[in-house]
Amino acid sequence: MPSVGEIMESMEYGPATEDASAVREWLAARGSFGHFIAGRFTKPGDTFATRDPSTGEELAQVSQGSSRDVAKAVRAARRAARSWGAMSGHDRARFLYAIARTIQKRERFLSVLETLDNGKPIRESRDIDVPLVVRHFYHHAGWAELAASEFPGHTPLGVCGQIIPWNFPLLMLAWKVAPALAAGNTVVLKPAEYTPLTALAFAEICAHVGLPAGVVNIVTGDGETGAALVGSPVDKIAFTGSTEVGRGIARALAGTGRKLTLELGGKSPFVVMPDADLDAAVEGVVDSIWFNQGQVCCAGSRILVAESVAERFETLLHRRMEKLRVGPPLDKSTDIGAIVDPVQKDRILSILGAATREGAVLVGGQPQQGCFIAPGYLKNIAPANPGMRQEIFGPIATLSTFRTPDEAVDLANNTAYGLAASVWSESATVATDLAAKIRAGVVWVNCANIFDAGAPFGGVRDSGYGREGGREGMLDYLAAPAAAVVRDPAPGAISAMPNGAAGDGEGIDRTVKLYIGGAQKRPDGGASYSAQDELIPLGGRKDIRNAVEAAQGALGKWQGLGGHGRAQVLYFLAENLGLRRSEFAGFASADEVEATIRRCFFYAAHADKFDGATVSAKPGHLTHVQPEPQGVMGIIAPNGAPLAGLMSLVLPAIAMGNAVVAIPSQDQPMAALTLAQVLACSDVPGGVVNIVTGPREELGRALASHDGVNAIWQVGDGAGRTAIEQAAAQTLIPVWSPDHRDWSDANAQGRAFLRAASRTKTIWLPYGA
Ligand code: NAI
Repeated sequence: MPSVGEIMESMEYGPATEDASAVREWLAARGSFGHFIAGRFTKPGDTFATRDPSTGEELAQVSQGSSRDVAKAVRAARRAARSWGAMSGHDRARFLYAIARTIQKRERFLSVLETLDNGKPIRESRDIDVPLVVRHFYHHAGWAELAASEFPGHTPLGVCGQIIPWNFPLLMLAWKVAPALAAGNTVVLKPAEYTPLTALAFAEICAHVGLPAGVVNIVTGDGETGAALVGSPVDKIAFTGSTEVGRGIARALAGTGRKLTLELGGKSPFVVMPDADLDAAVEGVVDSIWFNQGQVCCAGSRILVAESVAERFETLLHRRMEKLRVGPPLDKSTDIGAIVDPVQKDRILSILGAATREGAVLVGGQPQQGCFIAPGYLKNIAPANPGMRQEIFGPIATLSTFRTPDEAVDLANNTAYGLAASVWSESATVATDLAAKIRAGVVWVNCANIFDAGAPFGGVRDSGYGREGGREGMLDYLAAPAAAVVRDPAPGAISAMPNGAAGDGEGIDRTVKLYIGGAQKRPDGGASYSAQDELIPLGGRKDIRNAVEAAQGALGKWQGLGGHGRAQVLYFLAENLGLRRSEFAGFASADEVEATIRRCFFYAAHADKFDGATVSAKPGHLTHVQPEPQGVMGIIAPNGAPLAGLMSLVLPAIAMGNAVVAIPSQDQPMAALTLAQVLACSDVPGGVVNIVTGPREELGRALASHDGVNAIWQVGDGAGRTAIEQAAAQTLIPVWSPDHRDWSDANAQGRAFLRAASRTKTIWLPYGA
């Protein structure tokens, strides 16, 4: 070790190691850990080692949770759910407050434990992770206090299974546990196998503050333990981790009626415009991809820089990168700590190998002894290169250039993911334009990787669905006021009649066709089926594809109208429905027509009022939470209530600016086909509503498998529902299945529909000089 004199001479950093003795004593006193179930630790069962990745040293033995352990924990959570859910919000707030206070008092201990178990620099666990954990519990103590007044009529879901990753172990626990508890749920949480220790320390905190037994249960183990939890009778699964595992969980839950939120991977763009403050942008890269060794789901891992400033930017970036210190995580001057596990290090190196074999040039990014990789970036990298497409989850960015703002947006959106983006420009107009156009759940303008408990976080597309944080996050742990449920009559069998029967009616016969892109279309297969004494066009996969394309084409114009413009169209639709009531005779009851007219008014009223909010997150930032339309929505309408059922779903969707492909009642499709004509004369632009009649399940599956569809709503039970949800699990399209109800009733409309028709984008704008 150099002497102080020698350090002064060389101006090198001297070691400044954080004291870990308290944590080591704690570990030594405990030896092996069991699970935390019903308020106490179980005896350790089959155990495995958890290690300090920077040295390979074993820290502790933890138990591999079996399906019996998971079942026991779920039972404990179920037993506790009733009284915890019935407790006043104020009483729950006291517990959350006590947890926040206790974590705050143990900040140093928890930071050191986190750094030892995970390998992240102590500077980060001390200054970022643990303070955010504390903030999360305080914030949610507030939501617990206000739950009854802020979410009237809402109820807890019950028992939530929560599965978290290893990159922010305690922070991800807080993101999951705090809102669940605030909303009145109980939880069974499974931490990641590489990093279970802070969750176990948290369990002790729960016991210390006297949290009722069973409200928080922690079962350690690997993916098998996680899978057992997914297969348990819980009411919701909240998962953060890899996209592949997320898909599997969605598949496993298909048809079960259990709620699911997924926060998955990302390959987030980091866009540097020609007028950006380049020095600030370089610091942004440090916070983006060289934070937590790049093991960050929302890391700005694809740097896209304007060609005109690319050379200068790279020079600055390279200079800054060389100053980053790779070293022992407990050293307070370390910037880049250890990768979480040798398995992850190998994974990173294998992606880098594939990237360089395909022509990319790696600058820096060299592996070092142990679990360390130096920071780096890949340049000369083609859009199809694996380094550009796969989540590297290590301290390696990609660097590429663009010429125009449009090209920047195209490149930014050229990914299956949609978690976050960071955009850098000194022009508010340019920056907000990019923020609006980039498909992502979070956009940071002139900043990066800023988080707050009050600011919803979550993604779109392969990055998952659902939000964590703020009001949105709370809603994902609550059930909306219940409607009286009635059964939807199951559709009868269809027998196809080939040879172009539909649309070939002769003489005075009525000719009914599909409604796609604002025009009446024959079904691609040229076949029909018989329903309501008519020959109904038998839609198929190709028709669904055409309808999705038409819907995609209509989005720009429809969204461009704005809420007020869309409201006008909906009022006009109501007027025309009123004038043409008689055409629905025999196809829909007078009640249904009346309810549909009422819905038009209701959603026209909301079209310019279902607003976002600027939330109080960090000082010095405008943090705006904006509801955005989902995009193209597939709506599988009820089989009963052929007009009100269909329109109770279509109207909120289009009011919010979505375009819809609707599969109407299979047995009573004539109301929808009559409606098509009213839509055509009501200024609803072609492609905004498309109607494809035919076999509901088959068409529903086609919709759910189409990656141009952004959300699915479906009403119905049984095998059809499971099949549709299974298809949507593959594409990661969120599915909302509202209960079947009396669709003419007042409770078949409301904010829950508008909320499901939108998703939030959180835009962070720092202000001040
Ligand atoms: P993973 O998705 O396997 O692990 C995340 C959590 O899910 C862990 O608690 C794990 O035990 C659990 N799990 C694994 N298989 C499961 C199953 N079948 N059912 C239920 N739970 C299961 O992620 P892994 O393998 O640790 O990392 C692989 C890659 O995933 C990373 O390199 C990174 O690209 C991505 N990842 C993304 C994260 C994010 O925050 N979005 C976090 C962790 C990993």
